[in-house]
Amino acid sequence: MIRGDKMKIHVMENASQIGKAVGSLFVDAINEKPDITLGLATGASPIPAYKYIYKAYEKGKVSLKEVKTFNLDEYVRLPKNDPNSYYSFMHRELFDRTDIKEKNVHFLNGNARDTEKECKRYDDMLEKAGIDIQLLGVGRNGHIGFNEPSICFSKGSFKVKLTQSTINANKKYFSENPMPTEALTMGVGSIMKAKKIVLIATGNAKADAIAALVNGEVTPVCPVSILQFHHDVEVYLDKAAASLL
Ligand code: GLP
Repeated sequence: MIRGDKMKIHVMENASQIGKAVGSLFVDAINEKPDITLGLATGASPIPAYKYIYKAYEKGKVSLKEVKTFNLDEYVRLPKNDPNSYYSFMHRELFDRTDIKEKNVHFLNGNARDTEKECKRYDDMLEKAGIDIQLLGVGRNGHIGFNEPSICFSKGSFKVKLTQSTINANKKYFSENPMPTEALTMGVGSIMKAKKIVLIATGNAKADAIAALVNGEVTPVCPVSILQFHHDVEVYLDKAAASLL
């Protein structure tokens, strides 16, 4: 496969335009396949797209009642109802504002006693469901989900020790409980199995990771670079994130 041959790169004015473009891509996909399986991401990047989706739901333009979702990652030993758990984030930013069914939304349980068993449970479910569209953000160091720079790509879900760069980028959000230093994440292998991948990045801090995604060497030192080997990736950037292309 020629790497990057099918990557579609959209450079847009701002985050809100990206939200509309990505949100409408998801709304169309749901309308085309009402029981679609979506892989979902947290962080600031997908929030405008989630807003577009729940606004479309409010206007009666889409229903999520048959949609199934799998989130990329979750912090370890953070109470599920802490406002910074990814479980809380997704309910606040999307799920609670739509008709999605709780039984159809899936997360890695960061509070599971046996994390290996938990990762296996998640991977088995992922394998059975098959992700139609995976939404991704990207960390400044090129991480996807919580697949941090490493010496190898991980196939399945696993427990990861977060890097200082990731802790620095996210700790500002934590007040009730300190920011966990570990997380459970879907593996790069599972992300790559999605039929389609949509990645959003905005701001200067993401420019290096985006340059590595588009033109860099494919290496686990910059996990996002693996997307060069996927056959259907759409990347939505603002000018700042695209500034090194
Ligand atoms: C966290 C999440 C990632 C996300 C990244 C970037 O590390 N685990 O899934 O892509 O943050 O977040 P933001 O969009 O806020 O820059």
